[in-house]
Amino acid sequence: MFTEQGPTVRELAVQALSSIERGYDLLAPKFDHTPYRTPDRVLDAVTDEVRRLGPFDTGLDVCCGTGAGVGVLRRLCRERVVGVDFSAGMLAEARAAFPPEGERPAEDEPAGEGPAVDWVRADARSLPFAPAFDLALSFGAFGHFLPAERFGLFAEVYGSLRPGGQFVFPIGAPPPVGSRAYWTLLGFDAAMRVRNALWRPQFVMYYRTFRLGDVLEDLTRAGFAVRLVPLAELGRRPDGSPRARLVVATRE
Ligand SMILES: C[S@@+](CC[C@H](N)C(=O)[O-])C[C@H]1O[C@@H](n2cnc3c(N)ncnc32)[C@H](O)[C@@H]1O
Repeated sequence: MFTEQGPTVRELAVQALSSIERGYDLLAPKFDHTPYRTPDRVLDAVTDEVRRLGPFDTGLDVCCGTGAGVGVLRRLCRERVVGVDFSAGMLAEARAAFPPEGERPAEDEPAGEGPAVDWVRADARSLPFAPAFDLALSFGAFGHFLPAERFGLFAEVYGSLRPGGQFVFPIGAPPPVGSRAYWTLLGFDAAMRVRNALWRPQFVMYYRTFRLGDVLEDLTRAGFAVRLVPLAELGRRPDGSPRARLVVATRE
């Protein structure tokens, strides 16, 4: 699961006993060598689908980490891209990966082509933006929000979008009940609940709390019109249903 360049078991244990913010500060230098960074095939599938919804001028990556979603936005947006995260360590890595144009070697990857990026340190539960963005997206971070915080998070994204702006993110189909993946996620969440009952600060990270029905309800309550688009590139399950869908929430 982890490469040699990834964190050691000891480092992971120290991170898991910290707060979310501090945990990511510690993990940041090695984050891109962990499976927690959203894989390129997911980023590519989302890029291809979101491109059909454009064109876009301005994009916001919510909980940007080291910039996985910022790379997507730079391929889709013409004028301005912003990444927001509360971990200073993750933002430092992101800045290094996407240096300003004058400081970039010609062959540089992943910076590549695209508008310059602004990095903003803020809590996604209280975003500091005017309603200015055409497109907001988020990858791999919803497990860090308790179900009770989800509506507030969506309302903050809604408030950062201009009318007509779209908030998109992929959501995977839940593993079949009784499958290996099902028991793995159930076991992980149970261990996290025990950890959080016994230890402070809490580290909120749950896999099974971001359920499609609840998510659609909270998005609608926040004011979005929502639809689902299959992410065909990510394949289908044996029953023919898509392995992942793109949630497209529009501020009407
Ligand atoms: C698993 S990483 C995902 C990073 C990136 N989006 C990706 O897909 O590779 C989760 C990120 O969410 C950020 N995060 C978690 N809770 C947050 C909050 N309340 N406000 C801002 N950032 C938050 C963490 O600092 C971390 O960078």
